[in-house]
Amino acid sequence: MKILGIETSCDDTGAAIYDSSHGLLVHRLHTQIEIHQQYGGVVPELAARDHIRKLLPLVNTVLREADTNPKTIDGVAYTAGPGLVSALLVGAALGRSLAWSWGIPALGVHHMEGHLMAPMLETRSPSFPFIALLVSGGHTMLVDVEGLGRYRILGESRDDAVGEAFDKVAKLLELGYPGGPAVAAAAEQGDPQRFRFPRPMIDRPGLDFSFSGLKTFARNTVLAHALDRRTVADIAWAFQDAAVDTLVVKCRRALQQTRRERLVVAGGVGANRLLRQRLNDMVEPLAAEVFYPRPELCTDNAAMIAYVGCKRLWAGEREPLEITVRARWSLADLQAVDAGICSSS
Ligand code: KG4
Ligand code: ZN
Repeated sequence: MKILGIETSCDDTGAAIYDSSHGLLVHRLHTQIEIHQQYGGVVPELAARDHIRKLLPLVNTVLREADTNPKTIDGVAYTAGPGLVSALLVGAALGRSLAWSWGIPALGVHHMEGHLMAPMLETRSPSFPFIALLVSGGHTMLVDVEGLGRYRILGESRDDAVGEAFDKVAKLLELGYPGGPAVAAAAEQGDPQRFRFPRPMIDRPGLDFSFSGLKTFARNTVLAHALDRRTVADIAWAFQDAAVDTLVVKCRRALQQTRRERLVVAGGVGANRLLRQRLNDMVEPLAAEVFYPRPELCTDNAAMIAYVGCKRLWAGEREPLEITVRARWSLADLQAVDAGICSSS
């Protein structure tokens, strides 16, 4: 079964082809960084207009690069939420229309389920059940994953998502957009001894997160110092150190509480090197394993959408002819898919 995947939930236009027998055939991404950079964040209307310009040519590119044509595609999967409605509508409208014109089924996929399943695209992939740390620009969550569509949310952020905190701190430090990679790069030159930021909520029981206090602490530190290059690097280091530590402490707690042996890290912040290093160190004494998608599959991409679409279309799920997207959509509302179906490649 060959599935065309489409991703347009935010500022990346993605297209991919996943084959149930041969795995991921090709995935391509067009990022809109240059468009939004001057505004310091994503402008939804500009994002949607650029998706309109780039998506169809990108679909043609992946069809060509996978050496395939519409006649051999069995279904179309597109991100239907959560995300920016105007951006989602571009992918949903094109995906639904292509499926209709090619006479094949379509399916709207949950963006965060895509992130959760991205590690399944790797050769070394986790088996169910596992704990997933979902860390993106819009979400920070710990999820107990028993199978495709079987999710129990163990904890989430009560305010800012961790990626959002990285982006806001980058703005304070005048490091530009997107902030995560910029803060991580600046932090490499930082002095670990100069500042120590608080670790929010680690001394409280439970698995929820809070990052707005950490962001405020960063703002106050910025206001109290002249922003020379050294200070920018030192603040970036202290912020990254505190944010990563907080995530690691909660992951350890989630593994211990659930006695799961596998941890999966998904979402854009999962590309962070320090986070990966510290999680690897944390799981060692627990005899647990940690799985990461390669960095390009941590951030937004259409490969993960094609993968989830393949599993769910195979299970018989279908989208009606109307084009529906959702700005908000809880993972807990998704339907479970039969374990037999999801264990087949
Ligand atoms: O999953 P994603 O690509 O898009 C969303 O669905 O939000 O995540 C984007 C987020 C942004 O906040 C970005 O700053 C952050 O992931 N990010 C990072 C790194 N790479 C991307 N944060 C920390 N370190 C990184 N290396
Ligand atoms: Zn995402």
